[in-house]
Amino acid sequence: MYIIALDEGTTSVRAILYDGTGKAIVSSSKPIKIKTPRPGWVQQDAEEIYGKAVDVLKELINKAGVAARDIAAIGIANQRETVVVWDRKTGMPVYDAIVWQCRRTADICEKIKAEGMAEEIFNKTGLEVDAYFSATKIKWILENVPGALYKALNGQLIAGTIDSYLIWKLTEEHKHVTDPTNASRTMLFNIKELKWDKDLIRYFDIPIDMLPEVVDSSSKVGYTSVLGDPVLIGGIIGDQQASLFGQCCFDIGEAKNTYGTGSFMLINTGDYIKAPSGLLNTVGWTIRGKATYAIEGSIFISGALIQWLRDQMGILKTAQESEELALQVSDNGGIYIVPAFTGLGAPYWDMYARGLIIGITRGTTKAHIARAALEAMAYQVYDIFDMVENNSGFAIKSLKVDGGASSNNFLMQFQANILGVDVIRPEDLETTARGAAYMSGLTAGVWDMEILKKLNKEDRVFKPDIDFDRARAIKGWRRAVERSKSWAI
Ligand code: G3P
Repeated sequence: MYIIALDEGTTSVRAILYDGTGKAIVSSSKPIKIKTPRPGWVQQDAEEIYGKAVDVLKELINKAGVAARDIAAIGIANQRETVVVWDRKTGMPVYDAIVWQCRRTADICEKIKAEGMAEEIFNKTGLEVDAYFSATKIKWILENVPGALYKALNGQLIAGTIDSYLIWKLTEEHKHVTDPTNASRTMLFNIKELKWDKDLIRYFDIPIDMLPEVVDSSSKVGYTSVLGDPVLIGGIIGDQQASLFGQCCFDIGEAKNTYGTGSFMLINTGDYIKAPSGLLNTVGWTIRGKATYAIEGSIFISGALIQWLRDQMGILKTAQESEELALQVSDNGGIYIVPAFTGLGAPYWDMYARGLIIGITRGTTKAHIARAALEAMAYQVYDIFDMVENNSGFAIKSLKVDGGASSNNFLMQFQANILGVDVIRPEDLETTARGAAYMSGLTAGVWDMEILKKLNKEDRVFKPDIDFDRARAIKGWRRAVERSKSWAI
């Protein structure tokens, strides 16, 4: 029997087929277009996302030469916070999916803070008040799309994160569900009670019937027939929690960082919900009604900085070239880049911060810029790590890494140097998809947690260089961050 992971990320949707030993056999992926109609606005065509999700699933089983009846279950991992509002009968979205990176609701968030709601929201949902999360995006659609509020009040519209929308479309009976990892990113979900919070829903003026039923991350969600015979959808998990699970960070204090478009560091905190100020509490996963929690540091721009240097600035020909260039110089030449292109996330939460490159001299070369870009990716992770180490009571002994940029050896070595702990890279960098596969494999009875731990293999451990001058490097980074703050006010 095989397991399929469907990983719907911000820039692409991919499907991966795993055999019973956890080996990834075949994969298929398609890019998803990103629209930026105004500065700071980010949206996607929800129907394109669904269409391509089905395409990659079909392509996958065709490539592998397997049939739907050979698949034990499908697990879904998805970009989180991104919301869709759609018609309960036709499935037609009333507006594009508003993507997690979108800043259009920054003013709504300011109003929420001014109304003194930030503490209640943090205590109940584990989240900072920020345009990143779903609630203000749903509110924006209801208030700005002609007729949407009226239809919502009449019960014609429903809402959900990408997992909900995909499952509604994939299942014949149109199941309207989500899991606690996704719900915990909406700003409407009480993470202690594992329930939608009626007071917050009322505060945001969102009709409660619009929201999906919340089921365990590992659960028999429903069946899809898009591949022919019905196949069980056995897992739903937000992509960053999926990689925590896919890295088998099952014990308290185990941590991972994913270097994707953004960068997301999560630390397993077991039953504890106690993120220090500036970091988030989030649900790591739920299995049989029991939640494992995590502290999360969400960094909005990570690998996207390298893409920007390549696609918009033309400084790099390929993303891989960043490593070659970085190694051509012995240090960053005093250059720091703060990639606050969409504001700063954890631990600063400044919606008005903007990107900067500072320290440029006549001697600055593109090698310094490339090196500073990779270093910025590592410094942002350091900020989260430092906050956890000094303010949460949890000690991080090593960091597991994944995502595209974790293949960059310069970045990984610099990360180990700046953190002062081992950085562990697995053989399979697609741990998000792996986490979704593991979750649905548990539901289908293919694996148990003990077996899962044996399926993962290490590629390389990066040890910190004891001669590295951390204090000096970090001081420069902190000064640069200060200058990027509040720029767009
Ligand atoms: O919170 C946003 C995150 O889920 C997006 O992840 O991998 O699509 O950049 P990714």
